[in-house]
Amino acid sequence: MIRIYQTADYEAMSRRAAHIIAAEVYRNPACVLGLATGSTPVGAYKCLSEMVAKGDLSFKEVKSVNLDEYKGLAPTHDQSYRYFMEDNLFNHVDIDLANTNVPNGLAEDAEAECKRYDELVASLGYADLQLLGLGHNGHIGFNEPDDHFTKETHVVSLAQSTIDANARFFASADEVPRQALTMGVGCIMAARRVLLIASGEGKADALYAAFCGPITPECPASILQLHNDVVVVADKAALSKLTAAGVAVCE
Ligand code: F6R
Repeated sequence: MIRIYQTADYEAMSRRAAHIIAAEVYRNPACVLGLATGSTPVGAYKCLSEMVAKGDLSFKEVKSVNLDEYKGLAPTHDQSYRYFMEDNLFNHVDIDLANTNVPNGLAEDAEAECKRYDELVASLGYADLQLLGLGHNGHIGFNEPDDHFTKETHVVSLAQSTIDANARFFASADEVPRQALTMGVGCIMAARRVLLIASGEGKADALYAAFCGPITPECPASILQLHNDVVVVADKAALSKLTAAGVAVCE
């Protein structure tokens, strides 16, 4: 089932997403959270950090698995996804860093690292809640548009559109790593619940293709139509194409 919540703007999307994540932690304090990076979840992570600071929420027993990491970036590089997670969430909540997992972008044998990561996520029983952002090209994690879906964690060559989109975080597009390690759609689909968040008009086409288009690896997020528990939280602008097409949304 797919439930779509429409919010007025990015801030409201962030609060709603944070509440859904908090509800998962209240339901099971030792849950496994699948986490995402990028600009979209920053506000939700801030809300979660505030809840923890107020004493309303604890991540003490939570375990986490992140979706992806740039190949070749050290965890200390300020654009690595490990650094992002510490900067935006882990350093502001009471999570045990030993319980947080991000693929190792520096692994000498990247294929072995992918296998290790798949086994790790499986050994944790997969995510109870997987948070996802959405690429402009329909990617989830770094599963880029392709002629097939890849089930396992794998090394991926980033699409030019992804390199261009992520160049804003680097000094120039030349500095964006060309490859990444990403969970495949197997781990994502094995999550018990999926929470996809999106904000802004720039995501409207991708959101429409993901949930109203055909299920195709050309729009990797479209595979979520086959998941039985997906919640989308997106603002009006991101949902504009879906609502124009008459898709029902909750407020
Ligand atoms: C990041 C990730 C990506 C992003 C997507 C959207 O871990 O998995 O799929 O969610 O590229 O990025 P933003 O939120 O920056 O638009």
